Amino acid sequence: MSKLVHAQWSSKMTFVLAAAGSAVGLGNIWRFSYMVGESGGAAFVLVYLACVAVIGLPILVAEWMIGRRGQNNPVNAMLKLASSSGQTRAWALVGVSGVLAAFLILSFYSVIGGWSLYYTLNSVTGTFTGQDADSVGAIFGGLLGSPGVLLLWHTAFMALVIWIVARGVTKGLEGAVRTLMPALVVLMIVLVGYGMTTGHFGEALAFMFRPDWGALSGDIVLAAMGQAFFTLSLGMGIMMAYGSYLGEDVNLLGTARTVIILDTVIALLAGLAIFPIVFANGLSAGEGPGLIFVTLPLAFGNMTGGMILGLMFFLLLTFAALTSAISLLEPVVEFVEERSPLTRVMATLAGGAAVWALGIAALMSFNVWDEFLIFGLNVFDLLDTFTSTILLPLTGLGAIVFVAWCLDRKSVAAELNLSAGSETLWFVVARYIAPLGVILVFVNSLLG
Ligand code: PFF
Repeated sequence: MSKLVHAQWSSKMTFVLAAAGSAVGLGNIWRFSYMVGESGGAAFVLVYLACVAVIGLPILVAEWMIGRRGQNNPVNAMLKLASSSGQTRAWALVGVSGVLAAFLILSFYSVIGGWSLYYTLNSVTGTFTGQDADSVGAIFGGLLGSPGVLLLWHTAFMALVIWIVARGVTKGLEGAVRTLMPALVVLMIVLVGYGMTTGHFGEALAFMFRPDWGALSGDIVLAAMGQAFFTLSLGMGIMMAYGSYLGEDVNLLGTARTVIILDTVIALLAGLAIFPIVFANGLSAGEGPGLIFVTLPLAFGNMTGGMILGLMFFLLLTFAALTSAISLLEPVVEFVEERSPLTRVMATLAGGAAVWALGIAALMSFNVWDEFLIFGLNVFDLLDTFTSTILLPLTGLGAIVFVAWCLDRKSVAAELNLSAGSETLWFVVARYIAPLGVILVFVNSLLG
């Protein structure tokens, strides 16, 4: 592909699939469920839903718009648009922090992707068959306590990501997303069905949707907003990079709605599948990052056909993680490739190796470095918390402020096909409600 003529998606459908492939990942199943559990349930879920709708949607559209108008990697796109609208070059920082966030996130994401691979293998060998809660917990504890095993699977996951990105076969994967994403949804529904048979489904429903507002704190609201950014792949440069391959004819608002609904449905299904199992087995909802790895194997190990279902589930989860991880490495590679003399393969290897090395620090925080704390957090939690609660919201804030305040209002309204009434609504949300929402959550958590 020439470096001068920027490529385009082959069809609108491909774009929707790629964006959904990036959005739907470990964030929906692994991270959503453990964050809900740690944050005490429904109040978190409802704030998260509000953040997705009021903050996530406009920022998703803003990021695509920046990519489409800039026709370049996130940093260059911001530079180009800032100069053509008479703004300072400092706006490029929005692109820079996006690429930085992508880099940091992928390092710990790959560790969890490795867990998913490990669980796929163990489902085949029947490790979980007939096990009780204690022994499933012990298997997970054993994994966390073995840096060598964690390293092996983190390396395997990262190697897969590098291999796919280096070959540039993302187009082929989009074809696979078309079949595997629906398969994942079906499987999640089957698991929700299993949850209903545990006798604790009502409890799970109440946990997820009947809020105890009294327990809500600034930190929980901040975590819910962070989850909204994480799950929609916002503030990571991904959606900007994807927007740069976007044709003029794609309806941004409509597409954003489709991607967001799909992403949210999968997360809610994950919660409805996992919490009945948690309550039925007397497990702790606040278990932390291991939640799905100590609950789902228990269900698979004790249901008919569980071996096949477990294998399918962890395979699909790994696949969802891969399509997301590829989308994270892509902007980094796009940036290095367009800015340096490195070939695509070399750029991918260099970026991937750096991510892999940082991932080693993340995986050691579960064992040899578990006492090593910065601001009271181990390396893994620090990477996760710093990116999702600070870097992603700030990058997203930069994107929405730029689009809503610095770009020509009439041209934005025309690009979004807004009628007079909806134009007012869009600008009220994009100029005031979404940015103030992000700022308010920040201030609130600082005070709270
Ligand atoms: N939206 C992705 C998810 O929910 O899993 C976020 C993401 C994280 C994408 C890490 C890519 C990635 F490497």
